[in-house]
Amino acid sequence: MKKIDQNKPITDHRPPTTFYYGKQTIDASDTKRVTKVLTSQLITQGPQAQKFEEALSKHFGAKYASVAANGTASLHLIALGLGWKKDDIIITTPITFLASANCAIYVGAKVEFADIDPKTYTIDPGKLESKLKYYESQNQKVKAVVAVDFAGHPCDWDSLLQLKKKYGFQLVNDFCHALNAEYKNDIQYAIKYADAVNFSFHPVKQITTGEGGAVLTNNSELDKRIKILRTHGMTKDESMLEKNDGPWYYEMHEPGFNYRITDFQCALGINQLKKLNKFVSKRRSIAEYYDKFFADKSGFIIPHVSKKVKHAYHLYPLQIKFDELKINKKEFYFYLKEKGVVFQVHYIPVHLQPYYKKTFGFKSGDFPIAEKFYEREISIPIYPSLTKKDLKFITSAIEKTLEKMK
Ligand SMILES: Cc1ncc(COP(=O)(O)O)c(C=O)c1O
Repeated sequence: MKKIDQNKPITDHRPPTTFYYGKQTIDASDTKRVTKVLTSQLITQGPQAQKFEEALSKHFGAKYASVAANGTASLHLIALGLGWKKDDIIITTPITFLASANCAIYVGAKVEFADIDPKTYTIDPGKLESKLKYYESQNQKVKAVVAVDFAGHPCDWDSLLQLKKKYGFQLVNDFCHALNAEYKNDIQYAIKYADAVNFSFHPVKQITTGEGGAVLTNNSELDKRIKILRTHGMTKDESMLEKNDGPWYYEMHEPGFNYRITDFQCALGINQLKKLNKFVSKRRSIAEYYDKFFADKSGFIIPHVSKKVKHAYHLYPLQIKFDELKINKKEFYFYLKEKGVVFQVHYIPVHLQPYYKKTFGFKSGDFPIAEKFYEREISIPIYPSLTKKDLKFITSAIEKTLEKMK
């Protein structure tokens, strides 16, 4: 039989000359493990979910983990599990994916934002405290803060924890971008600051299960609730049952959802997690290449890395001063795409989405630092299988396209 090269990437969905901002890295060891589960008796609700949960808890230093269908479902489970209710106030950052804010909407809560720090692009603790003070002055309590370790750069967690102690809100880390980031030399920092830590395993993230998510917590009650709500609100836990008709018997005390993830996805997750250190090292070396290339060029701002932090580079958010260079960003997108490089923009500030403007009255100018960041930001390709040659191609395409447009 032909020997399998465990490390050789075996999927390449990209047309030969197009580079997108993110892409999964799948090798033969991944497909082998997925196939093994696919040909076993249980392809869902088998043993793999718990195994993946144990591996995640161990790697990230949490007592409990619950895997879920995707990172949006896991955020919804956090919102329900933490007991967010109608009209509760939840504060998050405008520079995040919709789901960080939408999870509050799902439970009828009110979304508020605090602007980002101009250097780290994560929620600014000073701006957050102004919002907390404002609500205090209105005799309203903020229920929770969803902070996002944007792009893979941890927030200022010491300051966030101080604010949590002072104002008594629940603290969630939407950690989807920051797997293997370090805060004060600690890879397991996330659960030490937040009540719940949220993951997504979408293919552009550091590790993937296709679609997938997870919640980490050290709170056994929260973990229990999340696990029940993940599967229709059903429980077989004898201590919770009103009666017990037999081994088949279950009860539902509140409605939940089917937010489970399959066993074959978990098998992929377990195998991907083994490669996380390698994947993030590769991301860091790509970032180093970009940093060197763009650092001294006028018109560019490379991502800042704070002293206390090791970046995990889910994204490489490069800022280009399009206004100063007198270049139209939309035109730049199309010219660059013609050359084979397709950037994405992370993110359109959430408060400027029509739904948020209409529902909560947000408008342009409300969070100026986030809005300026959005004007300038482009996320350029960063994923482990990029080669030096690819990076040369990408950087030269960006430079040449801008030169031509000046
Ligand atoms: C910060 C953040 N939160 C939540 C999500 C939602 O995760 P998923 O796409 O797995 O539902 C994402 C995914 O893009 C994200 O980047």
